[in-house]
Amino acid sequence: MRKLVAGNWKMNGLRADGAALAEALVAKAMAPTACDLLVCPPATLIADIAAIVKGSRVALGGQDCHAETKGAHTGDISAAMLKDLGCAYVIVGHSERRTNHGETDAIVLAKAKAALVQNLVPIVCVGETAAQRDAGQTLAIVEGQLAGSVPDGAAAGTLVIAYEPVWAIGTGRTPKPDEVAEVHAAIRAALSARFANGAAVRILYGGSVNAKNAAELMHVANIDGALVGGASLDAASFWAIAEAC
Ligand code: PGA
Repeated sequence: MRKLVAGNWKMNGLRADGAALAEALVAKAMAPTACDLLVCPPATLIADIAAIVKGSRVALGGQDCHAETKGAHTGDISAAMLKDLGCAYVIVGHSERRTNHGETDAIVLAKAKAALVQNLVPIVCVGETAAQRDAGQTLAIVEGQLAGSVPDGAAAGTLVIAYEPVWAIGTGRTPKPDEVAEVHAAIRAALSARFANGAAVRILYGGSVNAKNAAELMHVANIDGALVGGASLDAASFWAIAEAC
């Protein structure tokens, strides 16, 4: 399966920073790449970045969307708005949304459904906390989040899963290859049990992926790419991760 390397810029970058980063990536992606490339800038930058990546090998995504198409939801943006700007993907259920904004599986499910309606590919994030891992609950938590936040009717090509252990995000700590392989195998099994083409749904790993650890992580079975936070803010390190794929 062709891997996907996605950059989650989070709440980083003013217009000049974002443009410089996107221009550098587009330049590097002039030649055919071995993996698909995606950047998810903050909402304020999406229109600017859309103009830069148009016609390139770099796809565009949002970091979140509201479940409704429009209406009285101050501060929110809809999947339709992302689509209108040229996005192809949207991250939903990132742990920072689940934790900081109280997003439940039901809310994430509604957002993922809204994405599908707009022909956006939802990147549904799942992952356990350190306490849950220590308590031996990792697979139960991840399977529960998958069951609760992945819509029926999604399939390979219209759905991406990102396994992001909460304790690995922004910490410099990553699971060992056998630990991450166990979770990705469980996610694959759950997808295959639920969807006819579950074997072909991309499952990304995210959490402290960098230029040094990417090659080892990307060779683990059932890892079909990376969701990269901090290291996606530097064109050279993001590119090194893409090359490791
Ligand atoms: P990180 O973030 O690469 O900075 O750990 C990953 C993510 O939260 O998607």
